[in-house]
Amino acid sequence: MMPENAMKDLLGERAAMVEQTLASCLDGLSVPPRLGQAMLYSLLAGGKRLRPVLCLTCASLCGETLETALPFACAIEMIHTYSLVHDDLPAMDNDDLRRGRPSNHKIFGEATAILAGDALLTDAFALACRADVRADRLIRAVSTLALAAGSSGMAGGQQWDMLYTGGPAVALEELRRMHAMKTGALIRASCVCGAILAGADEADVKAAGVFGAALGMAFQITDDILDLSADTASLGKPAGSDADRGKNTYPSLLGMERSRELACEQIVAARAALRDFSGREAEFLSALASYVIHRAA
Ligand code: IPE
Ligand code: IPE
Ligand code: MG
Ligand code: MG
Ligand code: MG
Repeated sequence: MMPENAMKDLLGERAAMVEQTLASCLDGLSVPPRLGQAMLYSLLAGGKRLRPVLCLTCASLCGETLETALPFACAIEMIHTYSLVHDDLPAMDNDDLRRGRPSNHKIFGEATAILAGDALLTDAFALACRADVRADRLIRAVSTLALAAGSSGMAGGQQWDMLYTGGPAVALEELRRMHAMKTGALIRASCVCGAILAGADEADVKAAGVFGAALGMAFQITDDILDLSADTASLGKPAGSDADRGKNTYPSLLGMERSRELACEQIVAARAALRDFSGREAEFLSALASYVIHRAA
């Protein structure tokens, strides 16, 4: 088992690689300055960089170099960042703080925040296509990522979230589906795409998917728990927002204790999916799984 400080060092090292590439993602493009500022404002505001690090690590687990997977990993973070910018808009969660700063629309206005999200999402696919791997692998990874972000993945999950907001308690099965789509899909795709880019065999691609889906579920259950149990300063986003908006969440439906148990069960399932892997990358993924449920923000 990788010690916690070694996990944090490796996460920091890989997050720094991601940040360096993200900082130059608009270089050479002719972008209206205000739009570029709005995109970089949210992209370079910190954040755990979990999804790109998962992509890099699953690529490395399956034999690819980190450098080769890096453009694709950064594209995933651009898509994630777009989702946060739009998620905070008044028409959605109406949250004024993100990553410890005023939300994008509070600084740039709603129109520019919408466009910054659109542009982050769209530019991400051009960056993803710069990963220097075999064309068939790249096409499969790009298609996997597009489906995970789209109507049957993250965007679809956000639609369920909005439909359930302010309404009666939903069935657990509906909550599970919403979480699997709005958060699980992109986290799963981060892992699967890393394996695909590396040319992993089908069994390993499948294992990466099972790992990522379980991790993604644990991640959103923990996000719901933190919304209730952590404070705004450590979260960098408004604590208590879910209850204020009347969100259906794991704790609202099942209570804190049962939610914690379910998050732990998902982590056990995620770890089980790694059983055929060994070595440093597998240990890092296993340590990241603990981090997902024990994090403070
Ligand atoms: C927040 O994601 C949105 C969810 C899907 C819960 P993160 O908690 O990964 O946010 P950052 O990237 O660290 O800011
Ligand atoms: C967000 O879920 C899922 C996304 C796809 C952005 P939340 O609305 O709970 O995320 P936070 O708590 O605002 O980060
Ligand atoms: Mg939301
Ligand atoms: Mg939100
Ligand atoms: Mg939340």
